[in-house]
Amino acid sequence: MQNVNNAGTGMSPDMCEVPHRCPVAHMCMPGREVPCHHVGRSHDLKLDLCRQLEDIADSLPHVDRRQCLIVASMLVPLLRESHRFEEDCVFPAFVDDVAHREQRLKTVERLKQEHIEDECSAQDLTETLLSIGRGAPISNPEALGFMLRAFFESMRRHIAFEREHIFPILLGERGNGPQHN
Ligand SMILES: [Fe+2]
Repeated sequence: MQNVNNAGTGMSPDMCEVPHRCPVAHMCMPGREVPCHHVGRSHDLKLDLCRQLEDIADSLPHVDRRQCLIVASMLVPLLRESHRFEEDCVFPAFVDDVAHREQRLKTVERLKQEHIEDECSAQDLTETLLSIGRGAPISNPEALGFMLRAFFESMRRHIAFEREHIFPILLGERGNGPQHN
């Protein structure tokens, strides 16, 4: 597996520097995307979507309707795939720590709840953006702006937490990190 710091750089799996210390090295398969690369890329894509949602919020009430359609088409599939991977691959490795197991289980439960909430919000947002993208008038720009900002600010906080507290385990740092809530 490659070092997570290389995530998103396009490095190949055989350039991995720490397979002997990586808790999810068993997920690495020849010819397939490695987990740490996948995680880094998913976060980058989600942060790019946040930037696009912020653009839409900032431009209200004169939005780019094509941009609304593009974002609407990506939002739910990207979140679902990213959450599935985190819950199936990354979170189990994070919880697998004797010293901090109970605390980490609570952290994972909270993150899974946030995944559910984000997917529900993404579904609502997708319907709204699709409607606007197809030409519907924006009847309440203030409410839409609030909805957009609440969503992307929550997603940015979630990603920042995972980057700081969860994904360092892909570097083999289990058991040495800070306490998690
Ligand atoms: Fe997550």
